[in-house]
Amino acid sequence: MSKLKEKLQEKIEAWRPRTTALLKKAGDVKLGDVTIGMALGGARGVKCLVTDISYLDPQEGIRFRGFTIPETLEKLPKVPGGEMPYVEGFLYLLLTGDLPTKADAEEVAKEFKARARVPQYVFDVLRAMPRDTHPMTMLSAAILCMQRDSVYVRRYNEGLGKNDHWDPTYEDAMNLLARLPEIGAYIFRMKYRADTPIAPDFNLDLGGNFAHMMGVAKPYDDVARLYFILHSDHESGNVSAHAGHLVASALSDVYYAASAMINGLAGPLHGLANQEVLRWIQDVMEKMGGKVPTEEEMKKFVWDTLESGQVIPGFGHAVLRKTDPRYMEQRNFCLKHLPDDLIFKYVDLLFRVTPPILEKQGKAKNPWPNVDAQSGVIQWYYGIREYDFYTVLFGIGRALGVMCNIIWDRALGYPIERPKSVTTAMLEELAAKAQPTAAKT
Ligand SMILES: CC(C)(COP(=O)(O)OP(=O)(O)OC[C@H]1O[C@@H](n2cnc3c(N)ncnc32)[C@H](O)[C@@H]1OP(=O)(O)O)[C@@H](O)C(=O)NCCC(=O)NCCS
Repeated sequence: MSKLKEKLQEKIEAWRPRTTALLKKAGDVKLGDVTIGMALGGARGVKCLVTDISYLDPQEGIRFRGFTIPETLEKLPKVPGGEMPYVEGFLYLLLTGDLPTKADAEEVAKEFKARARVPQYVFDVLRAMPRDTHPMTMLSAAILCMQRDSVYVRRYNEGLGKNDHWDPTYEDAMNLLARLPEIGAYIFRMKYRADTPIAPDFNLDLGGNFAHMMGVAKPYDDVARLYFILHSDHESGNVSAHAGHLVASALSDVYYAASAMINGLAGPLHGLANQEVLRWIQDVMEKMGGKVPTEEEMKKFVWDTLESGQVIPGFGHAVLRKTDPRYMEQRNFCLKHLPDDLIFKYVDLLFRVTPPILEKQGKAKNPWPNVDAQSGVIQWYYGIREYDFYTVLFGIGRALGVMCNIIWDRALGYPIERPKSVTTAMLEELAAKAQPTAAKT
């Protein structure tokens, strides 16, 4: 058993009594109320999911295992020669809740290397798809076709005690995470670099190897590390994390769950927003003939977009009510590495003019930028200009959080998810009882 798995086992055994005690002694304690607005509003704010991997405070932003983003980046061991931490060490933190030493991070890197071989049939499946297929569809299909290798399914069919479900789930999750960077880079090189995939270099850490397989020089390795860490988890209720959790709750294996997670991420209101941001900015650039607009000109573009009934991509959030710290971290990276880049200047201008406009329009509950408003500009700067691909990068990162959640779901025996639905007539009846006059008008 690997050191990480051993450590995880200890953590799971120590944690289980907490969940059991809560269920047994406090199962009837109320967690909140659900209003008609919440039911019709996409379950916004309904507290009915449990995760200890990350927590999203509306004002403060995300904490991974209790650490803010700046704390996470500062405390995790760094890859020699780079500014950013090992993604492998970050996974150790997400999975166990403990900060890893450099040796712990390197041990996980070793474990990934042992699991990283992508089966040939995955490449065959990718190559059989029309080359203009969206890269998210390719990623989802590549993940799904590996389902045939699920250790969980094999062990389940042999007869698996409930307390042991986490063990083969861990095996599948680690195999998948180890292979995703190569699959992502392969899709990129096959589709956008004249079909010239680059073989992995397993002497490198996950971020370094990904940059190598993408064919992009330093500091893109640090960009990859930062990107995967920032996009890993945003508690459980967002579409991708929730889709993964929901599908896994039926005891579908992690390949089914991760493919569903990718499909949810592919929507323009979720992960696809980062490609929408670049598309929107380039449209503005074209209209401006490539020069930086004045504040007044940029304001007009924002208003024109709103007045045509579209959203401003990269702004707003379902939970956050301030500038996304993931945005700020990437902004700091841009200020350090690409302050004079033309697209960054546009993004910077949007950062200043958009929130007051959204506030004035009065619709968006959060006028501040989210993670997607900033991430495309960095990729563009380092030569990844095929913005259809950006959500694949998000997906590789998001898989880290979703896999940790699913392993813990299995460890704590969370049951199949099954919220209750009601009909519109039932809501109308309830509304009439609560507000007899308002309901009639
Ligand atoms: C993220 C997002 C989907 C959250 O949705 P939400 O929780 O329903 O957001 P709100 O409660 O603030 O929405 C209230 C209204 O404001 C609008 N709104 C929210 N964000 C907006 C934006 N960036 N631009 C224009 N209008 C926006 C909504 O469309 C909605 O309008 P409606 O009442 O006419 O339907 C939404 O802010 C959005 O579409 N943003 C742009 C896409 C994006 O950046 N997605 C990535 C998220 S990480």
